[in-house]
Amino acid sequence: MQLRGLILSGGSGTRLRPLTYTSAKQLVPVANKPVLFYGIEAMVAAGIEDISIIISPQTGDEIRSVAGDGAQWGVRIHYVVQDEPLGLAHAVLTAEASLESQPFAMYLGDNLLRDGIASFADRFRETRPEALILLQHVPNPSQYGVAELEDGRVVRLTEKPAEPKSDLALVGVYMFQPSIFDACRAIEPSPRGELEIADAIQTLIDRGLAVEPHIVTGWWKDTGQWADMMEANRLVLDAVERSVEGEVHDSHVEGRVVLSPGARLERCRVRGPVAIGAGAVVRDAYIGPYTAIGPGCHIDHCEIENSIILEGSIVADLDVRLEGSLIGRNVRVRRTQSKPKAYRLLVGDNSEIKIP
Ligand code: G1P
Repeated sequence: MQLRGLILSGGSGTRLRPLTYTSAKQLVPVANKPVLFYGIEAMVAAGIEDISIIISPQTGDEIRSVAGDGAQWGVRIHYVVQDEPLGLAHAVLTAEASLESQPFAMYLGDNLLRDGIASFADRFRETRPEALILLQHVPNPSQYGVAELEDGRVVRLTEKPAEPKSDLALVGVYMFQPSIFDACRAIEPSPRGELEIADAIQTLIDRGLAVEPHIVTGWWKDTGQWADMMEANRLVLDAVERSVEGEVHDSHVEGRVVLSPGARLERCRVRGPVAIGAGAVVRDAYIGPYTAIGPGCHIDHCEIENSIILEGSIVADLDVRLEGSLIGRNVRVRRTQSKPKAYRLLVGDNSEIKIP
């Protein structure tokens, strides 16, 4: 069975502000790679050759210019604009023509799964249920779609219930036969005004069609909120292999460190897991575990640990270690000698600064 791919990359990312004022949430990097690329690569590894990506009018151009036509992965990417964010089932209907009414795997563009989706795609091709859904036990099920199982069968799916009947959250990866299109047409908007994919799958169940559940055991992250982004960064960095291609001068590089070509270390101690992007220059610094420093950053006379610093930023001359921080693009954090001695902040909306 030829499986198509559908990646939903239309969301506005309000919970990741201020980063998402200027960039699509699916392009926020995890370990120096846009989160969307992990979804594309998961599909490529599952043998999917045609991937439709749903984009919004606001962030679509940026996503198109970064992901392109798919040639960098040897696949074909087709873009579909969803004019308004009217829900995941609405997105499926918007993509119906692009998917040419074929079976498809759907992947929410801000989700990350350690083990990818290849084994589930193989299973779906083999057993051909109407739908295959992925579930994981979570401590906070009311923030997700929640599944109730009876004797291993799915009996009910509820989107973000106030009083969840189980702790099994719907992971943002689904496989569907073309019957899902009719099911999406049969449902009404939910209380939050969206056509919910959980309701469309419930329609399949109500029609007596086979919906196969699988519990995901490897880690899964929905990177919709900044604490999740930080956690995803740690999880992905935990799995990197050491690769030191940049220049190292008078420095100690310990453990699993990715130093991209064109990056330079001078008089540093870098303790992995750490990723440092192309063209970054790091001088007289300590870079500790779980830190990702984006391409073109300048880091000077400071200590940084467990943090994400995006492209083109400068961090210099700090007395106190920077820890647990997420710093956007082209930000400057540095000590100044000018008087009066005071904090001088130029900070965008919805930012957060904690000072000891
Ligand atoms: C969406 C789905 C929800 C699912 C979650 C997984 O929620 O509606 O059922 O559990 O993704 O990431 P959203 O993140 O859009 O609120």
